[in-house]
Amino acid sequence: MATFYADACKLIGVNPAESEKKLAAEAAVEYVNDGMVIGLGTGSTAAYAVVKIGERVKEGLHITATSSSLATEQLARGLNIPLLEFSGISRLDLAIDGADEIDPQLRAVKGGGGALFREKILAAASDRMICIADPSKLVERLGKAKLPVEVLPFAAAFVEKSLGDLCTRVAVRQSGSGSRFVTDQGNCIFDMHFDEPYDPLELATALKTIPGVIEHGLFLSEIDMLIVAHGDKVAKINRQGML
Ligand code: A5P
Repeated sequence: MATFYADACKLIGVNPAESEKKLAAEAAVEYVNDGMVIGLGTGSTAAYAVVKIGERVKEGLHITATSSSLATEQLARGLNIPLLEFSGISRLDLAIDGADEIDPQLRAVKGGGGALFREKILAAASDRMICIADPSKLVERLGKAKLPVEVLPFAAAFVEKSLGDLCTRVAVRQSGSGSRFVTDQGNCIFDMHFDEPYDPLELATALKTIPGVIEHGLFLSEIDMLIVAHGDKVAKINRQGML
């Protein structure tokens, strides 16, 4: 069935990873109910969820949402999703977001889009977080994807050196125009690269001790459910296992 699906995607010019992201995102949006306050994630997978929520709002769903980035906020506004500033919200019912990689214990690396700080705040404030992904994001052990770290520009050189002691290579994130990438909070991002898998808890603890590190992209306990689509199949996994 999956081969048939891949062949059909090729025939009609659809990228299977994109349709898998969309399928996972739409399955997550089924958990959105009237009256909820929803945290909207950032990235290409989360964007499919935002679009689906927009469709459901158009059909009469009553929710409010808050965004993890200015980019998602703009998308949600264009879809007429009622938005609230997060600064006035103390808890969310559900956050839906993507990941750069995720392991069998639902520990993830996020921040490929540079929105990890707000994403982590929304995840922490949310009663439930659903991570949505295509199979390319699944790993046995974290360490394949770069690990983004949001850093106060004032401490850039000091933090770069400190991060270098914990990984194989550190790179300052650049924007498309070749200048230093600036987060929605006005900070910079350092991407840590590893040759080998690492101990996520040990690394997260070490990163928290470096003054100037604002937040890192390790989400070790926030994700309650992973929804992953492969071909035309959707799997739902929580911390206890497959649902
Ligand atoms: C944004 O900062 C990230 O955390 C994204 O959720 C993550 O990079 C996944 O993005 P894609 O869905 O675009 O792969």
